[in-house]
Amino acid sequence: MDIEMDIRPLENGFGSEIWGINLTKTDGALQRELRAALLRYQVLIIREQNLSASQQLAFSKGWGPLDIHVQVKDQHPDHEEVIVLTTKMKDGKYIGAPHAGDYWHSDLSYVETPTFCTILHAIEVAEEGGDTAFANMYRAYELLPEKTKNRIKNLRARHSYDRNINPRVAVPDTHAAVAKERYSDRSPPPAVHPVVRTHPETGKKALYVTERFTLGIEDMDPELSEFLLQELFEVASQPSNIYRHKWRKGDLVIWDNRCLMHIACGGVPKGQIRHMHRTIVRGDKPY
Ligand code: SIN
Repeated sequence: MDIEMDIRPLENGFGSEIWGINLTKTDGALQRELRAALLRYQVLIIREQNLSASQQLAFSKGWGPLDIHVQVKDQHPDHEEVIVLTTKMKDGKYIGAPHAGDYWHSDLSYVETPTFCTILHAIEVAEEGGDTAFANMYRAYELLPEKTKNRIKNLRARHSYDRNINPRVAVPDTHAAVAKERYSDRSPPPAVHPVVRTHPETGKKALYVTERFTLGIEDMDPELSEFLLQELFEVASQPSNIYRHKWRKGDLVIWDNRCLMHIACGGVPKGQIRHMHRTIVRGDKPY
């Protein structure tokens, strides 16, 4: 079957907009086309979708086994695999996570088999704020001086979900009273991964450390480790290495966590609604 998929690559060398498909009607051929596009462009912005949580779940399962996120309090009421990211409130409480992803990260890098791709669908968007930015970690690696590439080639780093043990990140005010329960008690034991990973499908090398989840480099003095990590973060997050996505209602964005990191940019004014559904597809052990 020929697929009428209109792919429009973005200008900065990664990312692509896709028009003209309906994700409630996917088949094997469309799934293969999308997978090939994801490997090529790293992030796909599929416009004009309108998927219910169960339709998103069905579409997501086409990419592989789904993971249940540790943010269990923010699960969709009918589907534990769907996390609700929202500024909507009921009885004075958010009905999902209002500020997930507020530091640069790669999803679930704190477990043995981190996320392959994340699927985020914009159900409602705010007039202002709420962008998501992506940094290209293939390019971050390529941009490093040879000396640094040599220095980091066999290094491994420890990653954790627990905000309480990472001095680089703050606990949001809304969770201050439950910080131990929310982050320490729910955190799986830290996972150790290579600082430079090889993408299992493209074979390309990508930097694999982030400010949110990477605690430090194994067998290195903590101060030296932090100094080196800051150097790597600076290269990865330089403006020319970033695509900043301004959401439109109906966007469904899929990104490859094995070669990108991302951040929720925030800035939604109080009272405005940003409401999204997120699913995560399990990947392999990084090497
Ligand atoms: C995330 O990091 O999973 C959420 C990103 C966003 O809401 O922009």
